[in-house]
Amino acid sequence: MATVLTLAGDGIGPEIMTQAVAVLKAVNEKFELGLTLEEGDLGGAAIDRAGVPLPEDTLQKARAADAVLLGAVGGPKWDGIERSIRPERGLLKIRSELGLFANLRVAKLYPQLANASSLKPEIISGLDLLIVRELTGGIYFGEPRGIRTLENGEQQGYNTMVYKTSEIERIGKVAFELAKVRAKANGTAAKICSVDKANVLEVTELWKQTMIKLQQSEYPEVELSHMYADNACMQLVRDPKQFDVMVTGNMFGDILSDEAAMLTGSIGMLPSASLDENGKGMYEPCHGSAPDIAGQDKANPLATILSVAMMLRYTFKHEESAAAIEQSVSDVLDDGLRTGDIMDPTESGLRVVGCKEMGEAVLAKLG
Ligand code: NAD
Ligand code: IPM
Ligand code: MN
Repeated sequence: MATVLTLAGDGIGPEIMTQAVAVLKAVNEKFELGLTLEEGDLGGAAIDRAGVPLPEDTLQKARAADAVLLGAVGGPKWDGIERSIRPERGLLKIRSELGLFANLRVAKLYPQLANASSLKPEIISGLDLLIVRELTGGIYFGEPRGIRTLENGEQQGYNTMVYKTSEIERIGKVAFELAKVRAKANGTAAKICSVDKANVLEVTELWKQTMIKLQQSEYPEVELSHMYADNACMQLVRDPKQFDVMVTGNMFGDILSDEAAMLTGSIGMLPSASLDENGKGMYEPCHGSAPDIAGQDKANPLATILSVAMMLRYTFKHEESAAAIEQSVSDVLDDGLRTGDIMDPTESGLRVVGCKEMGEAVLAKLG
């Protein structure tokens, strides 16, 4: 019997999680998946209960589970506490402890939302882009790090950006493999774009060289290109459809994926999977806890619901139920239902709904 641990987290986390869990329970029954759901806490909720953002019992449950579904963590309530025990550290720690080095963020435009994006419809129509972000290394985890006092009494903050060849190779392989799978499914040529700052940073020079060697030795059939991170940001809004798979380090991937989210209409639409070497994963929306709209039934639950679909596809290898969820989301959008973030006031026939109504509409479509 497989187990899914749900961690609702903070801010809009509990609201979006309620809707996503209802969807997960519905497909669990409909497709007889035999999944058992468990709950745990992470982030601010865990600080309030146990004093730390990733309590030992949560970590144990996460290790025992086959997959984890996460809402979002963080918020102003905990921003003032000591850095090492802030909510975000709990998220980084669970990623690291579970070895979830491969973060897949899919920016796919639902055609119904072509007008909800801030970009012209023709720039984004048909967009289907995968960002493969390295998640357990780079500047997020490099040592030394801290804030120190210099001899003249001034303070200095510092972090270290480090990548070993083995870390670059293993994320590179994920990107090359997925590029092949996508190319096969779409009947196109496999290609990946590796994003770096090799003109300035030695660590990303090694990144680039390692990607080239990997391509030459193991993936000669996949086209590999390279782009500096600043240009990649610009190209993403100029002509995003030039990309199929982008592979990059932890921090650049964080930034590029928020940017890519907006191409799909809203960050409230972007799901993600964070996988270990064996396909175990944590699934979460790319957005945060959105404190500005928390508790108001305004949050878009679709990124979390679509993260459930990714869980069924990647961890439980159940394509049928994953596709059923994605189809239900599409059907609800066809009906004109929109949370505020994906609303286009110039389009007729649309209706603004809250988080709860949106989730229930997806559930109804699932039947
Ligand atoms: P955010 O993603 O929470 O919010 C950015 C903007 O997008 C806000 O205006 C918000 O209202 C909107 N938004 C986000 N998700 C939405 C949704 N589902 N529906 C509608 N609108 C949505 O980013 P932020 O404001 O920079 O961060 C807020 C907190 O969340 C911080 O504490 C941050 O550290 C944390 N955070 C957590 C995660 C995570 O848990 N994975 C990710 C990013 C940020
Ligand atoms: C994300 C978030 C996290 C990150 C934060 C909250 C630690 O922005 O999941 O994208 O930077 O990885
Ligand atoms: Mn982020």
